[in-house]
Amino acid sequence: MKSLVFGFLSIFITVYASSATSGDIAAGETRYGVNCFICHGQAGKGMASYPKLAGKEVAYLIDKLETYRAGTRIGPNSDLMIMNAEPLSDEEIANLAAYLSSL
Ligand code: HEC
Repeated sequence: MKSLVFGFLSIFITVYASSATSGDIAAGETRYGVNCFICHGQAGKGMASYPKLAGKEVAYLIDKLETYRAGTRIGPNSDLMIMNAEPLSDEEIANLAAYLSSL
């Protein structure tokens, strides 16, 4: 019984550790609160012409943020996003994507 408990515990730790290396949800939430929420709303729910971000795939979110950061326009209001994505580091993008997809 004891080894079964330890077995589950180590699986949990492994899963938790691997998700942490691909993006820190808590750090993403903090970064989101700096300015992203002004346009994308509380918890990434979106509003008016600002797209909803909550629950989207990590890979999708990273791809969009890297595209905007590179200065590429992909929609009618991309200029607003390019300005906001330019200062983001790879780590911040990974954290933001982890946070938003977890919602
Ligand atoms: C000034 C308002 C504004 C701010 C601040 C802002 N965004 Fe955006 N965001 C937009 C608009 C407008 C779009 C749609 C742009 C377009 O037409 O291409 C967008 C698009 C996006 C998309 C693509 C969504 C999709 O499904 O295509 C992501 C991801 C995103 N924003 C994340 C963020 C993050 C993360 C932050 C904070 C670092 C942020 N945004 C800050 C206005 C903003």
